[in-house]
This record gives sequence, structure tokens and C-alpha cells, in this order.
Amino acid sequence: MKAQIKGMGHALPERILDNKELEQMVDTSEKWILERTGIRERRIIDDSETTSDLAYRAALMAIGNAGISVEELDLIIVATASPDMLFPATACVVQEKLGAWNAAAFDIAAGCTGFVYGITVAEKFLLSPEYNNILVIGAEALSRIIDYTDATTCVLFGDGAGAAVLSRSDSEAGIIASYLGADGRGGQHLYIPAGGAAQPASLETVEKGLHFLKMNGNEIFRFATKTTVEVSEKIFAMTGVKAEDIDLFIPHQSNMRIIKTAMKWMQIPPEKTMITVDQYGNMSAACLPVGLSLAAEEGQLKAGDLVLMVAFGAGLTYGGVLLRWGSD
Ligand code: ACO
Repeated sequence: MKAQIKGMGHALPERILDNKELEQMVDTSEKWILERTGIRERRIIDDSETTSDLAYRAALMAIGNAGISVEELDLIIVATASPDMLFPATACVVQEKLGAWNAAAFDIAAGCTGFVYGITVAEKFLLSPEYNNILVIGAEALSRIIDYTDATTCVLFGDGAGAAVLSRSDSEAGIIASYLGADGRGGQHLYIPAGGAAQPASLETVEKGLHFLKMNGNEIFRFATKTTVEVSEKIFAMTGVKAEDIDLFIPHQSNMRIIKTAMKWMQIPPEKTMITVDQYGNMSAACLPVGLSLAAEEGQLKAGDLVLMVAFGAGLTYGGVLLRWGSD
């Protein structure tokens, strides 16, 4: 039995925020952003929309591509670092928007690794005969938690959503292996200090900007380059698959320099690597499903292809999934 991706979808806001515009907003330069991150532009959500709206749009596309009805969904998992609210779960908001009344729903908080966590959890649920079709969404409106006076973070992030419908299958196509990890000791390197039970929102926390994302970029950079390689090595050891067997590598899209380090180590050429960071920036949990959905839409994937997805993020968390592309 395999957990197979039956359909992918994505949703990206219309509004483009490019490096030139950021130059007018904070003390930065187009040249610095491009050289240090590889990001040219990112998408920013409209005032009238929120995370669940992007998630909903991506979900509709994935459900359509999977050829199932919303009534057939048994579970909805939303991976996000920018939920609509602390509760209810954004997955429940999406369930309501879809009218997927037969589905249970919950969120996963694993930062940028959220989609990898989500499809791994879905794979385990599909071992149970009660679950046949599971919708996993990575959705972010990070622009709502970013401080647009902080040049060290605001240039990096963008908004977007990607979704996958996973179902049980007896065929070769589907998830081959997944690997998850976490290191809570690094939690303070990427976090939102206030707005939770530890530091409830107050006039003071708002004045100090403690409701915005804070990041120690250098620590995350070190963690990212180390874990991207380690997770890939772990999956290769688990499966016997080698780097040269990979048809499409989709690493987390936070910085072109991190992606290039991983490509160099694994000797995976650019034509086998999905790059979206230049166009969309870091969309956290949405990066991998948007990348996979775009690759499917653009015909970059054929049945039987081996796809390796690897991510790292707030937590700190890390993980990867190896799958064979195709559906029954
Ligand atoms: N524009 C201009 N200068 C800047 C900017 C900017 N936007 N940001 C930082 N600088 C300056 C710094 O102030 C510093 O100046 P100084 O030398 O005078 O002190 C200089 O540039 C170098 O700063 P570094 O932090 O060393 O820059 P670096 O080259 O390491 O790049 C970056 C910083 C892009 C943040 C990098 O560390 C990075 O990509 N880290 C990983 C981030 C990441 O992967 N995040 C994932 C989050 S996952 C999730 O769950 C959300």
C-alpha cells in the first residue's frame, strides 16, 4: 500500500512586491537582496484575503485534479505558520469554505517543514481503512506577521498556498519514504515572541513589535545547509536511492545560496531542481506544494519520476519525503 498524490493545486496572490519597491520601504538594496538571497520578487496577499482563502483556492484546484468530490475527503490538514487565528484551526475554516462535512480537520505547526510533516501524517492515517482521501495544504500569509521596517526579515518572505490530495493505492507511485526531525533547542532562532500564552498580546508587546517574526538569520542558515544534506543522506540510506536517481529535487525555498549548497553536495543539476525562491520568496509551508504543483502543471513531471522534497524551519524542524510520481 502506498499513499499516492492524486492531485495538486496552488494559489498565489496577484500583487507583486519587487526588490525595487522594498528599497523604498527599508534600508536595503536590490543588489544586496539578489546577491545574498536570489529573491527578485514575492507575492503579497490582498487586504480582503487571508491564509484560509489561499488554502481554499489551492484546495479546489487539488480536488479538481484528483477527480474526487469534497464529500469524499476524510481529513484536512493545514500546515501553516500564519494561521487565520490561534483557534479555530485554519483547517476547520477551510473545511467550512469547502463544505467538506465528512472531513476531520486540524493544523500542523512545523514552520517551513509543515508540508513534509503534513503528508507524512497523512501517509500514516491512510494505513487505517477509515481514511481514504486526505487533503494536505501548506498555506501562508506571512506578510501579516512580518515587520516591514525590519530589512533583515521583510525581504525574504512571501504569501502563497499549495495543496495535495493523498489517497491509498496499490501501484508503484506514491510515497516511498519520509523522515522527520526536530531540535527544540534552536526554537529561539526563529519565533514570534508575543501573542501566545507565554507573552499575551498587550499594548507594550505591540509597541515593541513582538507580534512580528524574529529570526537569527545566520543560525538558521547554518542549520539549513546542514539539515538539507543530512535529511537527504538519511533518505538515501533508508531507500538505497542515490542522488543521481532523483528526477526532481524540491528543496525548501528560503535562500538561493542554501539551495545551491545542497545541489552542489548532491551533484543535482539545475534542470533537476525546482526553483521558485527567485519569483515567490520564502512562502514557508507553502514552498514545497507550490513547487510540486507548478512542476506538475508545467509538465516537468512524468509518471515514474522520483521526487525528493526536503525542508527545515521554525521549531526548529526538518524533514524530507521521497516519492514516485504518478496516480492510478
Ligand atoms: N539589505 C541590506 N543589508 C542587509 C539586509 C538587507 N535586507 N539584511 C541584512 N543586511 C546586512 C546586515 O545588517 C549585515 O550588515 P553588517 O555587516 O554591517 O553588520 C550584512 O548585511 C550581513 O548580514 P548577514 O546576516 O551576515 O547576511 P547574510 O549574508 O548571512 O544573509 C540572510 C542574511 C539572507 C537572512 C541569511 O542568513 C539567510 O538566508 N538565512 C536563512 C534564513 C532562512 O532560511 N529562513 C528560513 C525560515 S524557515 C521558517 O520556518 C519561516
